[in-house]
Amino acid sequence: MSDQTRFLLSENDLPKFWYNINADSPVPPNPVLHPGTMEPVTPDFLSVLFPMDIILQEISTERYIEIPEEVREIYKLYRPTPLLRARRLEKALDTPAHIYYKYEGASPVGSHKLNTAVAQAFYNKKGGTKALTTETGAGQWGSALALACNYFDLPLEVYMVKVSYNQKPYRRILMETYGAQVYASPTDRTNYGRSLLAENPDNPGSLGIAISEAVEAAATSSGAKKYSLGSVLGHVLMHQSIIGEESLKQMDLANEYPDVVISCVGGGSNFAGIAYPFLRENLKNGKRTRLLAVEPTAAPSLTKGVFTFDYGDSAKMAPIVKMHTLGHDFVPAAIHAGGLRYHGMAPSLCALYDAGHIEAVAVPQKTTFEAAIQFARSEGIVPAPESAHGIRAAIDEALDAKAKGEKRVILFNLSGHGNFDMAAYESYLSGQLEDYEYPEEAVKESLTKLPQVNLAA
Ligand SMILES: Cc1ncc(COP(=O)(O)O)c(C=O)c1O
Repeated sequence: MSDQTRFLLSENDLPKFWYNINADSPVPPNPVLHPGTMEPVTPDFLSVLFPMDIILQEISTERYIEIPEEVREIYKLYRPTPLLRARRLEKALDTPAHIYYKYEGASPVGSHKLNTAVAQAFYNKKGGTKALTTETGAGQWGSALALACNYFDLPLEVYMVKVSYNQKPYRRILMETYGAQVYASPTDRTNYGRSLLAENPDNPGSLGIAISEAVEAAATSSGAKKYSLGSVLGHVLMHQSIIGEESLKQMDLANEYPDVVISCVGGGSNFAGIAYPFLRENLKNGKRTRLLAVEPTAAPSLTKGVFTFDYGDSAKMAPIVKMHTLGHDFVPAAIHAGGLRYHGMAPSLCALYDAGHIEAVAVPQKTTFEAAIQFARSEGIVPAPESAHGIRAAIDEALDAKAKGEKRVILFNLSGHGNFDMAAYESYLSGQLEDYEYPEEAVKESLTKLPQVNLAA
């Protein structure tokens, strides 16, 4: 084998189709329920929040959905993204494993989130939407949608989780640079935000709360605004499948095939993006790649949550879905991986995990930053704290291969860079970072508030 480091595709190799797991998933999808009636939602309900093209994608069972030309044109600014072999990291670990990573931080906003942001802004513009609302945790999603909305001339309101708003002022400024308006959530702009502030003016916010505010702002706008979600839903995961489709071609260029594919999970979109095309190969072409999702011990929805119907947001305005959940009013500790603090997880991923097609592990914050630093010092890229969870697991796989004397081919998704996360790195380097364990009692309490769903068999 050559000692090639970067495996690059040309603009002509940019995939023309997204991959829809619904066509091949061995587990049938569960219904999405109305938060008030608890009956399956109708397109009418969803159309308050989403344009029709997105709703149709959400329920589609077509295997491949064509990527519109306008979206591909914007993808060409940064796609295909590079795939690299982490040769220096391999050397530092003295491992026989081969470690590859797909670098989604190469997008202008610094993460994979632009892949779905461009598509969602496009379909909203096409459907006549006049403005969009959204939430953001770490600010990666908000930045991506801000740039996408700028390209399609759509005003954007971003509800940013307050703790991240304070930790990451530069992400806010980036969103404003692209033309978005950004508010620290809970805000006094919505009924829900005002009610929370009345109870506790120092409420640090959560993704569940920010989603509720963004949904309320759209739902009460008399049709003027629609809402856009950066993860969890099927159409978002599908837009991210371009990561795995490109990776398949690039692993071919490297003349190898991964034994294990790894990435971090917040709502599940970047993991599904890289993993589902490999899952298709497992299901249809006899491959046996392990697919490993990595979450923080502070918000361990897959490894410690319950697989049941729950609200997607804290104020119970968003649809109810069946997922691994820590309870919709779970407010996680203020760990630096803001994008991994969601109480639930993408329903398709949960069902596949439950059926044994996907593995999951939870890792604590300090050892995650240790891995991030080792990666930065070997490969040069400073990873986003979210992505570093995947790196932790990739390094652990490489060390396990070393202990067992095995050659193992590891592929992980480096979902974003951490150039805006220096406060988190400073905190780690100065020894101030703390580990947070799953607060068992708080979650037990949250789980007593699950919706009582009685579906006819
Ligand atoms: C860089 C990065 N990676 C991963 C995530 C987690 O989201 P998801 O699981 O949808 O990929 C986020 C969320 O904000 C992120 O910013």
